[in-house]
Amino acid sequence: MSEVEKDEVSGTDTTGHEWDGIKELDTPMPRWWLWSWYISIVWAIGYWIVMPAWPLVSDYTKGVIGYSSRAEFHAEMSEVEAGRAHLIKALGDAELGEVKANAELYQFALSGGRSNYAVNCSQCHGSGAQGSAGFPNLNDDEWLWGGSIDDIYQTVKYGIRSDHDETRTGEMPAFIRDEILEKDQVRDVAEYVLSLSQDGRDTKAAERGKEVFAEECTACHGDDATGSTELGAPNLKDAIWFYGGDKDTIVKTISNGRANVMPSWTDRLDDTVVRQISLYIHSLGGGQ
Ligand code: HEC
Ligand code: HEC
Repeated sequence: MSEVEKDEVSGTDTTGHEWDGIKELDTPMPRWWLWSWYISIVWAIGYWIVMPAWPLVSDYTKGVIGYSSRAEFHAEMSEVEAGRAHLIKALGDAELGEVKANAELYQFALSGGRSNYAVNCSQCHGSGAQGSAGFPNLNDDEWLWGGSIDDIYQTVKYGIRSDHDETRTGEMPAFIRDEILEKDQVRDVAEYVLSLSQDGRDTKAAERGKEVFAEECTACHGDDATGSTELGAPNLKDAIWFYGGDKDTIVKTISNGRANVMPSWTDRLDDTVVRQISLYIHSLGGGQ
């Protein structure tokens, strides 16, 4: 090896590489940089020893202190749970109608109800509980099965025409499919139903339909057509339509029945959650 040559101008060693008379200098790393580098090496080795660091085949090195962010998360969650335990218990024991009087408990129920509604119910009833054809609006004060907190709780808990033994039942017959009425009778009774909430319908047809209604429909929808929350039969006078208020849709409903299913939630959700959701629904505006 040749002797190290110094650059005359800067006084720095050269590497010995030279291109067309230009020489490469061998400038040393700055002190501060070198020290940072050494310190970070020492830090890294310390970190490997203390903290979980290296992946193994089916495991990893746990480190001296055995830290785990997952364990920390679980500990935090159990702390939160423990902090809420008295509320969960209070909600489980409370009469639903009395929860509102307890501001802290009611707030706990509504916030839990809101988030659980979003996860479990919004796909059918809409994100704002506004419903859509065949899925009732839960904001208004038109209730198929009753809008008291206990009614709502029962509906949510056991469902409607669900597979639970305690489910709400009640089915509108399929008047054409089951050969109970003739087609023109169905058109007449549909005309009568529409005449209850609209002016300018065909009064002759509605007159004929009124007789059919008295015979076939009042058992569930009531003599005055305002429905029955015992049987889930909607009010037909209020121009609020569950399936749709045009004549074709009404003829279809009468001809084939509908019998939509609302699932039962008691086997899927904690009773506390069912209570929270029911209180949330009840708070939306239509609660009775
Ligand atoms: C798979 C769709 C579906 C899901 C999910 C669903 N529902 Fe329903 N829900 C229905 C249908 C359909 C009805 C109407 C049934 C009928 O009476 O014909 C209904 C009816 C109701 C009623 C009765 C309304 C009234 O006017 O009496 C309430 C209350 C209700 N649902 C609340 C909920 C809540 C709370 C959840 C979430 C825990 C939920 N639903 C999830 C389909 C659903
Ligand atoms: C055995 C009880 C029962 C009888 C009888 C019955 N209904 Fe119904 N009706 C219901 C139920 C329950 C619903 C709710 C729809 C559903 O989910 O099946 C309903 C829904 C309807 C709707 C839909 C309302 C809307 O808002 O979309 C119309 C219209 C209707 N019935 C008209 C009639 C007429 C007309 C007759 C007689 C020819 C009749 N119903 C007889 C139980 C009955």
